[in-house]
Amino acid sequence: MTSSRRQLLQGAGAAAVLAQIGMIRRQARAATSAVAEIDTATNTEGPARSPWRRHYGLEADLVYLNHASVGTVPLPVQTAHESYLRLCETNPWLYMWSEPWIEPREAVRKRAAALLGCDWEELAIIHNTTEFFNVLAQGLPLGAGDEVLFSSLNHSGASVCWSHHAATRGYEVRHFEFPLDGLADLSEDEIVERHLRAIGPKTRVLVLPHVDNTVGLRHPVARIAAAARARGVRWIAVDGAQTVGMVPVDVRALDADFFATSCHKWLQSPKGLGLAYVRRELQSELRPMWVTWGQKFWQGDARVYEDYGTRAMATELALGDALEFQAAIGATEREAHYLGLRRRLRELVEAHDQLVWLSPRSWALGASLIAVGVRDRSSAELAGKMFERHGIVVRPFSLPGLDALRVSPNLANDERDLERFVDAAIA
Ligand SMILES: Cc1ncc(COP(=O)(O)O)c(C=O)c1O
Repeated sequence: MTSSRRQLLQGAGAAAVLAQIGMIRRQARAATSAVAEIDTATNTEGPARSPWRRHYGLEADLVYLNHASVGTVPLPVQTAHESYLRLCETNPWLYMWSEPWIEPREAVRKRAAALLGCDWEELAIIHNTTEFFNVLAQGLPLGAGDEVLFSSLNHSGASVCWSHHAATRGYEVRHFEFPLDGLADLSEDEIVERHLRAIGPKTRVLVLPHVDNTVGLRHPVARIAAAARARGVRWIAVDGAQTVGMVPVDVRALDADFFATSCHKWLQSPKGLGLAYVRRELQSELRPMWVTWGQKFWQGDARVYEDYGTRAMATELALGDALEFQAAIGATEREAHYLGLRRRLRELVEAHDQLVWLSPRSWALGASLIAVGVRDRSSAELAGKMFERHGIVVRPFSLPGLDALRVSPNLANDERDLERFVDAAIA
């Protein structure tokens, strides 16, 4: 920002902007804390009904079990988002470039950094997970003789970019098969072993999902990272698209060098925002992908990786309200809710011969993301019918070793949704 702009916005103008943002924030916070208190106190129906369902704008009859693809924004967060958008449109220039935006936006960064267990200087607010893996594929100092390695459980958003840049940058990309059948009782040791067996003398980068998007296998990242480094791997890049907001994440405890997530899944923020952790000591090695005027301001912290110019400020502020909503319900409550749903789904699956549980059986190695096979049925065809006839949204997967419906329940779901899913699957 030029100094003349800055001067113009000091004083009364700045105070008015801050007051407006503060008011929206307070309203959102009040709505959100009321949600948490009232719901836990008044839910008399137990697990059959989600205490939080009415705080989402989902169609009344829809059984939305696809939060792993894209989440839904709680109503108090939607209201706050709309208010920020309206505020922005009262003076587009003022609400894009003025100084008063900086503090509320940086407060969102600090809150997100605390959630991930890193310093705010290590956290960039980006668009999504895919973007950050593109930053890595372009910006890490890799060349001839170096190899990037990942398993077949890696999502395309964290895979394709490497092959795209390999040819021009001179490095190689290799992937190894992670068999999808027989995962239910795989041990932690076996998961670690599979990664270690694949590492070769040229492997410099190991990419892995914290939880993959097909069967919901929760990788023992810290163990894999330590053993991989001992074999000469330089950088551990973790795709956290399916964990942040679902299970507690501490990027330091995971021992990740880089970690990225998409906030529109389990954090339930408005679409188009992601978070990227870049370990402080590695920031001098990783070149940014977007570069504009911000580089000279943000040298020395992770904001150099989000320097793409004009931003969706209203959406970024609403991320703060999404974090507030999740915190108001509480990590323990949320995890208990996911666990309860998972247990019920397992009971239902095991009670029906036509259904097969294909995900890890333990919560320690699993997630609120479960692959259910339906014997003698094509999952793609079945998913289409379930939506058309019963308003049930699940994601089908037809992959080598896996033909399954992926069920990914979140706070808006309850046991009744799972029962409707099972009834439709076996109909
Ligand atoms: C594990 C994983 N990684 C990456 C992505 C890509 O997410 P985005 O499109 O938000 O970048 C997804 C999307 O489903 C995912 O599940």
